[in-house]
Amino acid sequence: MAASDWAGAVIVKPAVPEDVPWPAHTVWWERFTADERLSWNLLAGVAVNELEVVGEMGVIRHGMRGAMLSTAASRDPALRTTLRRLHADEQRHARWFMAWNRRACPWLHRPARPLAMLAAPVPLRAAGRFLAALPGAWIGGLWLAMALEEWSCAFADRLVSAPIGSLGPRDPTYLALHLAHRREELAHVAFDEDLLAAARRDVPPALRRVMPVAVRVVLEQAMRPRRAVPAATAAFAARHPRWAGAAAAIAADCRHVAESPAYWSSPGVRTSHERLELALHRWSHG
Ligand SMILES: [Fe+2]
Ligand SMILES: [Fe+2]
Repeated sequence: MAASDWAGAVIVKPAVPEDVPWPAHTVWWERFTADERLSWNLLAGVAVNELEVVGEMGVIRHGMRGAMLSTAASRDPALRTTLRRLHADEQRHARWFMAWNRRACPWLHRPARPLAMLAAPVPLRAAGRFLAALPGAWIGGLWLAMALEEWSCAFADRLVSAPIGSLGPRDPTYLALHLAHRREELAHVAFDEDLLAAARRDVPPALRRVMPVAVRVVLEQAMRPRRAVPAATAAFAARHPRWAGAAAAIAADCRHVAESPAYWSSPGVRTSHERLELALHRWSHG
């Protein structure tokens, strides 16, 4: 599938289940028109896709590159070939997500700035590059890759099962995109499991025990979209100027929702990492 498969007319239907946009959990929701709610829904769909792109182009790519240079890969040409294919898959996926995003919110995207909400500030990018260059860092990167990939598959499942809400039927291309992505990611998760099980041999026992804690802490931080809230609210207020005066208050309430456990356990958002937890348990105790 090519990025052009996700190009086309501007999206005019909701993308995500109606409990996914943060303001749906605030007092503001009642005050928004259907058109304003649709804007928030599309912004939430774009934010999910940007999280995918950050995962594909940042975390997963670094994990794969590090794995290619690892001892395990140096011993096994077939493994190197698989890693190269996975690396290419992720670059293709990122192009899919960005192509869909440009259709959903053309008013948000500028060609020179592919990520409208989750572009990392320079110090964060520099810190990420520094950490990724540390010996063995790819193993941590691969754990996070597995987490993101498992999350992506679960998100696609939720798109299938979420009921139609008050905004009407959802955009079929968003569902098709996430299901196409899921088909390839299921194989990636299985591959991560095997590669991490093999990498375990070269890691000292103390580090194996620390890994589950470190992965959970980083994951907890990575999945909280703090950075997306101000950008999404600013985009919403620019699109619907009658809310410009209330943008700061809306953003504050959205940030509160994005931080709350209740939001993360609501049906369209719920995150579970069963395979990751099982793999981490085996890694640290096996
Ligand atoms: Fe992907
Ligand atoms: Fe993947």
